[in-house]
Amino acid sequence: MSAIKVVVQGALGKVGQEVVKAVSAEPEMQLVGAVDLKAKADTLALPDGSSVPLSSDLEHILTSFKPQVLVDFSIAQAAMSAARLATERGVNLVIGTTGLSPDDLKEIDRLARAHQVGAVVAPNFALGAVLMMHLAKIAAKYLDYAEIIELHHHLKVDAPSGTAQATARAMAAARGKPFLQPQGRPAASRGEVVEGVTIHSVRLPGLMAHQEVILGGPGQTLSIRHDTINRECYMPGVMLAIKEVLKRQGLVYGLDALLGL
Ligand SMILES: NC(=O)c1ccc[n+]([C@@H]2O[C@H](COP(=O)([O-])OP(=O)(O)OC[C@H]3O[C@@H](n4cnc5c(N)ncnc54)[C@H](O)[C@@H]3O)[C@@H](O)[C@H]2O)c1
Repeated sequence: MSAIKVVVQGALGKVGQEVVKAVSAEPEMQLVGAVDLKAKADTLALPDGSSVPLSSDLEHILTSFKPQVLVDFSIAQAAMSAARLATERGVNLVIGTTGLSPDDLKEIDRLARAHQVGAVVAPNFALGAVLMMHLAKIAAKYLDYAEIIELHHHLKVDAPSGTAQATARAMAAARGKPFLQPQGRPAASRGEVVEGVTIHSVRLPGLMAHQEVILGGPGQTLSIRHDTINRECYMPGVMLAIKEVLKRQGLVYGLDALLGL
């Protein structure tokens, strides 16, 4: 089988650089081009000493190097124009960029179906994080109390994290009834309550992204914890999506859907 030809948009960004490294190291894939608004040279050096074409012009890269898959870790607006350009040319999409609206997702699905290509959009490509949420949903049916401690680096601006809120919502939906709350007056130090789940947000230098879901019942607690050490954590999920997207048509939203969880 010939290698899957891949282009990365956002290739000079924090996650994009990891994708470039991971695709280059994958025998079943061939990185044929890289795109970034900040491109200053016309080639990008790869870890093995070779190089690939680099440009700020996605259309030029798509037309000249004819990839099968475009991976995007840039900004929402760029991801959407890339989705239009790529699907028109029969290129499958793997999008990790966050901030896409429900209308954007509908448009991606429509474009992918119209051009008979696949599109995987996942707000979290870390396999462990997706599994943590899945396991928390299973446990939510059996234990009546739940709290989440999410810990992130000090530069994260939002709190609670999107993943913590999504976990609380998914747990409440799986449970089908509200979690119980301890009695007593609400206090600021008790954190924010989402769907009956109290979320505590820690922000400190030295942390990356960590989340612990603690469920409580009579005489016992159950902790489900996920820790990311660096941005490599997203790569197994991205590599899986690049391989799987070729077998799909239309939008697959979320790594959990791709894994069939
Ligand atoms: N899905 C996931 O698992 C996951 C994980 C981490 C980050 N993200 C998301 O991925 C995106 C990128 O994150 P990051 O930390 O690498 O950011 P970053 O700022 O380090 O990188 C973004 C890159 O995109 C480039 N870019 C911006 N506009 C562009 C355009 N119009 N055309 C081409 N390139 C453009 C920038 O020059 C930059 O190099 C963000 O939306 C972030 O929230 C998703």
